Amino acid sequence: MERMNSVTIIAKKRDGEELSEREIRYFIENYTAGNIPDYQAAAWCMAVFLKGMSREETIALTMAMAESGEMINLSEVLDFAVDKHSSGGVGDKTTLVVLPLVAANGVPVAKMSGRGLAYTGGTLDKMESIRGFSSDIPPERFKTLVAENGIVLAGQTNDLAPADGLLYALRDVTGTVSSKPLIASSIMSKKIAGGANGIVLDVKAGSGAFMRTADDARDLAKIMVGIGEGVGRKVTAIISDMNQPLGRAVGNAVEVREAIHTMRGEGPPDFREHCIVLAGHMLRLAGAANKADLSDIRPSLEAQLDDGTALEVFTRMVKAQGGDVAQVEDLGKLPQAPLIRDVISERSGYLRQVDAKRIGLCALDLGAGRAKKGEPVDHAVGVVAHVKVGEKVEAGEPLFTVHARTEDDYTHAHNQLLGALEWSDRPGLPLFYGVLSTEA
Ligand code: URA
Repeated sequence: MERMNSVTIIAKKRDGEELSEREIRYFIENYTAGNIPDYQAAAWCMAVFLKGMSREETIALTMAMAESGEMINLSEVLDFAVDKHSSGGVGDKTTLVVLPLVAANGVPVAKMSGRGLAYTGGTLDKMESIRGFSSDIPPERFKTLVAENGIVLAGQTNDLAPADGLLYALRDVTGTVSSKPLIASSIMSKKIAGGANGIVLDVKAGSGAFMRTADDARDLAKIMVGIGEGVGRKVTAIISDMNQPLGRAVGNAVEVREAIHTMRGEGPPDFREHCIVLAGHMLRLAGAANKADLSDIRPSLEAQLDDGTALEVFTRMVKAQGGDVAQVEDLGKLPQAPLIRDVISERSGYLRQVDAKRIGLCALDLGAGRAKKGEPVDHAVGVVAHVKVGEKVEAGEPLFTVHARTEDDYTHAHNQLLGALEWSDRPGLPLFYGVLSTEA
């Protein structure tokens, strides 16, 4: 058999040829072991970015990355492990509500989540707004918690798909993040290594997402569903809007508050609906619901949000993981910013855009996210948007509430948030954005 070397593999991809499973595995194993330097891996990522990957190559890359570290086996404690993953968004606190909802329907959930990335928030940062809540859970305790409690939310260990951790950091600084096969294999490798049998993917499209258009998001979703088929996992992908924040709150404690309100039967209607749909599809993959339109499971999901059942399960999870339950029962005890002030509208009109990315960046600048890897986040700060695309606003009404540390931070946020809005004289979104023609 021909000996392999990394230069030949890079050149083959550069020339648009298909790599074999052996070549991909060789490259990933040797990169993870430190035998292939970053400059070669960067060249390879760029070749993949420019030339793409076939379905077979993407599956091989996914499995090579999944198997580059520990593969969690949940079959001793769960008949069917169902997981969810969001491709990253602004105001996306869905996991906080969906996990308890799924567990409340008798399907145990053992989930690993990450921290915020750039202007997109991370579930662990949000949950750590609750004093004492720990997501640092070793694999054996992870299994015990789900067996005993039916729900566990842990941080991803460094040993889970380490090849993805290394490649992701490299892609971040070499302009190769937004490659569909690289994103698809990155997401799927972590879910497979985490032991999922069924995976619901929330693929975001819009200004606040990696995929700017619904067509691109659909392509990414198709690749991930194809990987699932190829490796024997059930996968459902939902393509959802990320042009404006999901719900109203963007930050950490402000998002926990909104999630808890939603589990008290309140909360923004778009966010509530998002949680019901995701939880419904997870239950369907796990065999606890049958209908593709979720009509058989929807009534019980709605009831469990309204009658406090989901909140009870959430509280149980917080308690089991060392969190202060008093902060769940009394939201006034969650971290509060010293300065909470509205941004008032100076004009009347309809909103054509409430830009998710700009609002995410505003929350980041307030301190809710990290400018550098490993930095602490400020749990108290953030933004609550009172307006949605298409809504009518009168002059003098509040557009946003800013939760800030200082006057300067508030002033900066005020200007950023006004810059996130586009106005229209008509309700709703326009049907057409313009006409280009060869004719005069
Ligand atoms: N999320 C991931 O986990 N990986 C990517 O490459 C992009 C988003």
